[in-house]
Amino acid sequence: MSGRASLPPAPGGARKRKTPAEQETLAESTAPAGTGRLRCLDHPRFLPACASDKDGWCELMVDPAADHSRTGGPAGARPNLMLIIASVRPGRAGLPVGEWFHGLAGARGGFSLDRVDLLELDLPFMNEPEHPRLRRYIYAHTRAWSARVAAADAFAFVMPEYNFGFSAPLKNAIDYLCHEWAYKPVGFVSYGGGSGGTRAVQLLKPVVSALKMVPLPEAVAIPYVQRRIDDGGAFLADAALEEAAHTMLGELLRWEQALRPLRARDH
Ligand SMILES: Cc1cc2nc3c(=O)[nH]c(=O)nc-3n(C[C@H](O)[C@H](O)[C@H](O)COP(=O)(O)O)c2cc1C
Repeated sequence: MSGRASLPPAPGGARKRKTPAEQETLAESTAPAGTGRLRCLDHPRFLPACASDKDGWCELMVDPAADHSRTGGPAGARPNLMLIIASVRPGRAGLPVGEWFHGLAGARGGFSLDRVDLLELDLPFMNEPEHPRLRRYIYAHTRAWSARVAAADAFAFVMPEYNFGFSAPLKNAIDYLCHEWAYKPVGFVSYGGGSGGTRAVQLLKPVVSALKMVPLPEAVAIPYVQRRIDDGGAFLADAALEEAAHTMLGELLRWEQALRPLRARDH
């Protein structure tokens, strides 16, 4: 088994899920050069689909307790909503809009939240040599992203409209993975000029549908977003936007629950 890595047991014998930063460190410190293989923690339902070998080693490090792509979330726990801030440029409106939506979703409850800022995530342009459906990821940044997305039950994309389309960093982050997105609903918080980002959303729907995500019609569309950023850099919502956000979050919860049987099946 030389050159293979597994997670060390946590105190008390139970395996503890690593944070993405810890995974990055672990992968880089223990994976043999050129392979990056890590153990899949012996998850019996997971192994057939993740290209593991007969010894149960595969390319993806996933704690089965956190991989909701097949279980529909741990019993009794709140589902996990991943909020993705999809613009990365200096002075972006995406950050204050994302902070507003994050605060509203947190105050509303119902989900546990994982806020992903693509600027902080800092993925390179998709550089995996194999198709993501094979989950034979060789880079630590991909394995960390995979584990994080696999642990999500639903998504909210906070996204700008660039030239009538979606942002390149968002498409790049999506393209890195495949099965991790499947059978999970996605809601859109879009913004831009007069269109409120709706053209970008419409173009993104076929993309997410190809990955078996369920794009919701209920959405938050913010026109003339720059007029809603105050001098302190905070986003100024109004009652209509808040209502739209609550409606979308309610639908995300319903769809997340409805899709659990599909996520529980091997695919
Ligand atoms: C490269 C670029 C292209 C843009 N294209 C559009 C567009 O097609 N439609 C629109 O409504 N706004 C467009 N805008 C305006 C943006 O929606 C607005 O600047 C917004 O703040 C961008 O999001 P960000 O600040 O989070 O990057 C564009 C802005 C940039 C920088």
